[in-house]
Amino acid sequence: MRNFLKLIIGLGSLTGFPALCFAGDALTLKSQYKRPLEIKFPKTAPYSPQLVTLGKMLFFDPRLSGKNNLNCASCHNPSFGYEVPVKTPIGATLTPLKRQAPTLLNMAWVAPLFWDGRAETLEEQAAGPITHPDEMGGEFETIIKRLSKSPEYKKFFHYLFPQTGITRENILKAIATYERTIIAGWAPFDKWIEGDETAISNAAKRGFIIFNGAGKCATCHSGWNFTDNKFHDIGLEIIEKDLGRAEHESNNVFAENAFKTPTLRNLSHRSPFMHNGHLKSLEDVVDHYISGVIDRPSTSPSITNVTLSIEQKSDLIAFLKSLTAERQDVSMPILPN
Ligand code: HEC
Ligand code: HEC
Repeated sequence: MRNFLKLIIGLGSLTGFPALCFAGDALTLKSQYKRPLEIKFPKTAPYSPQLVTLGKMLFFDPRLSGKNNLNCASCHNPSFGYEVPVKTPIGATLTPLKRQAPTLLNMAWVAPLFWDGRAETLEEQAAGPITHPDEMGGEFETIIKRLSKSPEYKKFFHYLFPQTGITRENILKAIATYERTIIAGWAPFDKWIEGDETAISNAAKRGFIIFNGAGKCATCHSGWNFTDNKFHDIGLEIIEKDLGRAEHESNNVFAENAFKTPTLRNLSHRSPFMHNGHLKSLEDVVDHYISGVIDRPSTSPSITNVTLSIEQKSDLIAFLKSLTAERQDVSMPILPN
């Protein structure tokens, strides 16, 4: 505790804030970033290990796509933070999609879904990519026929859903339940929050203060998952017109060009960034917030260019990197034939 206060007082003087008022604030700040220890599953889809196993098989199963060639991981690949390392992914029609594939980390705490929030639940969301002609181009009637040919799938579904068996609803429920178990591992930052002072560098500790202070990042990237789950136009250059949230909230001027705040977990594996994948690196992202924010009628009132020195910029990036967990192995399911 004494060491911690010493650190904060040190940080206070480094950032030019009065040291004493900072100590208490920093303790309160740290408490806002504690990870939850349990996943909340909805009453309509309670956790069961068998349901997660089935959902994982379906997530990796190309038979959910029209031509048996794409699965969810084609665009949400565990190696790239459940994204793909391209501006926007390519689906069934072999043309780049309009938007980048967002990460699937910590989805149990994210709603509504999609960059523009057009789906309320993971169940509802999962139907989108399966049947969209540009994504997987599948049809539930065909998918159900294909899965019914496999005795193992049949057994699984009938065990879990004795009344209904293989249906659209049960397929979506299984996938959504698996997704709720995809969680970013403990990052050095989490260990620091839990009290291990050696877990992150001093630069990252200073970056945490900047993130919450001079950088004004925490206004939107709030809490342990670093998102308010709301929509903002952060003043990015418009490369291709995309109404964003305004497609569903046409009477709100701030909904235009607004996209959902993404989590900042495991950023080191997830470039390129933003809904259109247009920023290549964390340096580019921070440069945007320093000098790139375009002021237009829809720009969020919570955002303006921020003033950061070269040292503050590098501290902020050190902090962002401390949010990446060590790589975890993800086992691939062997799919039933
Ligand atoms: C061809 C690429 C592609 C495939 C295949 C794909 N997705 Fe996506 N996914 C995307 C893109 C692009 C978006 C963002 C679209 C948008 O916001 O308009 C997205 C969004 C999502 C989201 C919303 C995340 C958030 O933060 O709101 C979830 C959840 C998701 N996909 C799950 C899945 C599941 C489950 C599957 C398999 C059934 C799947 N995806 C297959 C490209 C893909
Ligand atoms: C007004 C709310 C707001 C503020 C303030 C804000 N962000 Fe963001 N951030 C967003 C939104 C919304 C997006 C997605 C925007 C888009 O794609 O159009 C985003 C995207 C990002 C991304 C890309 C993540 C990804 O998955 O592509 C990073 C990294 C990031 N912000 C870091 C920061 C940092 C660092 C700060 C402070 C200097 C900051 N943000 C301030 C709302 C905000």
